[in-house]
Amino acid sequence: MEHDHPHPLRAGRGRLVLITGARGQLGRALQEAFAGDELVALGHEEWDVTYPPSDTLSQGAFDLVLHAAAWTDVDGAESDPQRASAVNVGGTANAAALGAPLVAFSTDYVFDGRKREPYVESDPPNPLSAYGRSKLLAEAAAGEDAWVVRTSWLFGPTGRNFLRTMLELGASRDEVAVVDDQRGCPTFVGHLAAAVRELVDAARPRGVWHLAAGGDCTWADFAEAIFAEAGLACRVRRISTRELARPAPRPAYSVLRSERAGAPVLPHWREGLRACLAELGR
Ligand SMILES: NC(=O)c1ccc[n+]([C@@H]2O[C@H](COP(=O)([O-])OP(=O)(O)OC[C@H]3O[C@@H](n4cnc5c(N)ncnc54)[C@H](OP(=O)(O)O)[C@@H]3O)[C@@H](O)[C@H]2O)c1
Repeated sequence: MEHDHPHPLRAGRGRLVLITGARGQLGRALQEAFAGDELVALGHEEWDVTYPPSDTLSQGAFDLVLHAAAWTDVDGAESDPQRASAVNVGGTANAAALGAPLVAFSTDYVFDGRKREPYVESDPPNPLSAYGRSKLLAEAAAGEDAWVVRTSWLFGPTGRNFLRTMLELGASRDEVAVVDDQRGCPTFVGHLAAAVRELVDAARPRGVWHLAAGGDCTWADFAEAIFAEAGLACRVRRISTRELARPAPRPAYSVLRSERAGAPVLPHWREGLRACLAELGR
């Protein structure tokens, strides 16, 4: 897209890309995957997305907005659904209000998990949790002209995620108890960010896309793989979701696959695990 009057945010004439939630685990991976573009990467402090965009942002004429800011505390959303919705629904509406091509991120938790074969884009959502409901409403707030990327069980080298928690626990304990009755696709943020770039660069049609790692496993399987790949001598005790007693219900099965032509294919989750450990120098 050509711009005759460069905006203060635009230094050159490349594609101008805004990333929200830029210091989250996905936000960081998106900054790396889109490093060849001109990036405006805003963390929570620079743009609290529950507020409308500033005039400077509104006039930014972005070529692309990657909206990675979100309330991601699944259990916390049960006790504060209004604030979770303010961030997830209101924040997505504010990102869409910029009027630029938008990528919004959604979740496998929009499904109830009753299926026993992979969820595809045309399957009807039925979220079990306040977080899942807020993300489903956020999909609508993104508008019909957005790419809505549903992904699952994200992990990366930064931030709070299951992989980093297991590395910490595995270094200090002989055994950890991990749920073995939820099945999904642990997805490495680096692989997701590359797939998002492919989706956008190939100008695939807008709408909902399922982008998650290949293969599937339970959290207990994933924990065992983490310990094996990282060389940690920690055992996994397989427990049920009921035993863990977390506030938010989670789908028992939320494997995501795409039924859409030209969908980017992500590597197997175990490859993602190895790539992430390599980034962590392990
Ligand atoms: N994590 C998963 O397993 C998972 C699975 C499926 C889908 N997703 C979706 O993928 C996207 C990225 O998630 P992630 O794993 O990268 O999450 P994350 O690491 O928690 O990053 C989210 C970022 O959003 C920021 N944020 C929170 N409230 C904000 C606000 N009001 N204004 C601006 N920024 C705000 C957070 O900043 P602070 O930390 O400073 O609040 C954080 O840096 C989200 O849409 C999420 O719903 C995640």
